[in-house]
Amino acid sequence: MLQNTILLDVLNHKPVSRPPIWIMRQAGRILPEYRAIRGSLSGFKELVQTPSLAAEVTVQPVDRLGVDAAIIFSDILVIPECMGLDYNLVEKVGPIFPKTIESEADIDKLGFGESAASSLEYVFDALSHTKKALDNRVPLIGFSGAPWTLMCYMIEGKGSKTFSKAKAMLYKEPQLSHKLLSKLTDTIIAYLKLKVAAGADVLQIFDSWAGVLNKELYNEFCIPYLQRILKELDDIVPTILFSKGAYFALSDLNKCGSTALGVDWTLSMKHVRQAIGDYKILQGNMDPCVLYGSKESIALQVKKVIADVGKNHIFNLGHGVYPDTPLENVMHFVDSVKSNTYE
Ligand code: CP3
Repeated sequence: MLQNTILLDVLNHKPVSRPPIWIMRQAGRILPEYRAIRGSLSGFKELVQTPSLAAEVTVQPVDRLGVDAAIIFSDILVIPECMGLDYNLVEKVGPIFPKTIESEADIDKLGFGESAASSLEYVFDALSHTKKALDNRVPLIGFSGAPWTLMCYMIEGKGSKTFSKAKAMLYKEPQLSHKLLSKLTDTIIAYLKLKVAAGADVLQIFDSWAGVLNKELYNEFCIPYLQRILKELDDIVPTILFSKGAYFALSDLNKCGSTALGVDWTLSMKHVRQAIGDYKILQGNMDPCVLYGSKESIALQVKKVIADVGKNHIFNLGHGVYPDTPLENVMHFVDSVKSNTYE
């Protein structure tokens, strides 16, 4: 039996005394113990592909920060990899794909679905190792990139401010875009189900590049695929859908079928609550940059988010924690959230 059930309680609409907290990118460079392990290896991929070490860095923030959940240390880019598009993570540059998708033949060559996803044994082994190491202290979150966000990297081959090459494909080759998004969706569904089989208690979907689209494109190329994924996971585990920058799609996202909706730091929780009502569980959304400020201002901003959102809330930042954030401020942030009890 799980000892700390506060995250699952909120996701199951059970009463809680305070919001649960975890932090996007908590398993990573803010922790010196992460940097020590990472520094002893050949690179990021060695860490991602070594289940015992991935499990170790997954548990680190639970030990150090006292967060209410662990998120498996991995990356969204393992999906393109299992479909046949390898990636490298280059220091100070980011992800680089030696090969990208340029034609229909490239899409036809991609593996997909269960057979592609099941090749990611190191991910599922990392989850099993982590479950043992956590010893039922907190739940374990599994995750995937959303189809659109993964398509961005597969077309562009690297990070981008605009992802204009991937967007251009939506306009120039809508049918091919649907073909690729559909293959990605089949793979993501199989992958997330295997993650649950390996021990994930909750799943989050990251649509990190939603914000480069508009309502029309989002409705055509994202919402139907997200709905398909969430429908397949319904009744299996609770889900959190985080579409960064998709304020134009708020009401559509609300109806997509996730248990909770992640909110980024550009929106006011008050506004989101007014737009979609009290029932939906909202996750977020303190600006990660608040953590560069004083301890007093961190505590104040925590209170403000809680006042704006009300109950049915999972505390988190509005995007991942930045690597150079002072660790003591992150610790103070978690303690501040945990000291705010509901009336
Ligand atoms: O949240 C966690 O602590 C779990 C681990 C996690 C990582 N990546 C580890 C990582 C998660 C959930 C991700 C998701 C991810 N990866 C996203 C979606 C989330 C978001 O922030 O919007 C995206 C877009 C990626 C792609 C990716 N991976 C990029 C752009 C980069 C380089 C830039 C960066 O953010 O560091 C990575 C590398 C990466 N993934 C690191 C970590 C800890 C840094 C690797 C290192 O040098 O140690």
